[in-house]
Amino acid sequence: MRYPFIAGNWKMYKTTAEARAFAREFKKIYQSSDVKVAIFAPFTQLTALAEEFKGTGICLGAQNVHYEREGAFTGEISVPMLREIGVEYCIVGHSERRQYFNESDETVNRKAKALLEAGITPVICVGENLYQREHNYQDKLVAEQVANAMEGIPAEDAAKVVIAYEPIWAIGTGRTATPIQANHMCKVIRDELEEIYDEETADKIVIQYGGSVKPENASEILNMEEIDGALVGGASLEPLKFIEIVNF
Ligand code: PGA
Repeated sequence: MRYPFIAGNWKMYKTTAEARAFAREFKKIYQSSDVKVAIFAPFTQLTALAEEFKGTGICLGAQNVHYEREGAFTGEISVPMLREIGVEYCIVGHSERRQYFNESDETVNRKAKALLEAGITPVICVGENLYQREHNYQDKLVAEQVANAMEGIPAEDAAKVVIAYEPIWAIGTGRTATPIQANHMCKVIRDELEEIYDEETADKIVIQYGGSVKPENASEILNMEEIDGALVGGASLEPLKFIEIVNF
């Protein structure tokens, strides 16, 4: 079933010492509730965070993964390596990876399948850039990204996936989609999922909004009917800001 889900994407920020300091402060102010909370940290911080978050209910996420189990892929990290540490979620196809590291719809799909097979929840990111928004391509483009990401994934696995709608023009720019725009796009995604699968499956899939979410705008976004949570970048780096979003 769908659940409220607030996730922090640290991107390439924080050393291990800084990650531990965050965790210690955050644990003090965090109270478990029916809101799922996860931190997506750089790989080298995951072990320390697994120790810090033990027994708190705060989930651990990675920001990327390779789709092969093992092999000659210098510099890559595999699904079993993440599992061993206790990672429960993994971002796939973040726009920064699509833009700077040649992530394609095909690799997104392969990564999602590899994660699902191992019981790790993929958080699949989709979203249009400013040019596509200005030319009103966003509905078609995002629906296509969803269809490509889900290709060959059976309904029972699809129901476990999280999808994050992140308009590229709103990421790290301080510009957010309006709640109506964000809600509309999450509905486009759910409609596409219903088309691919069925209403029951589509209804189970958690859909987040991401792009300059902060304490000041979290409530109006999270109040929208189609939006189940948020993927938070910049504002997840500070415990006090992040907890405000979680507590909303
Ligand atoms: P932002 O990043 O909140 O800093 O815009 C969101 C994201 O990239 O997931």
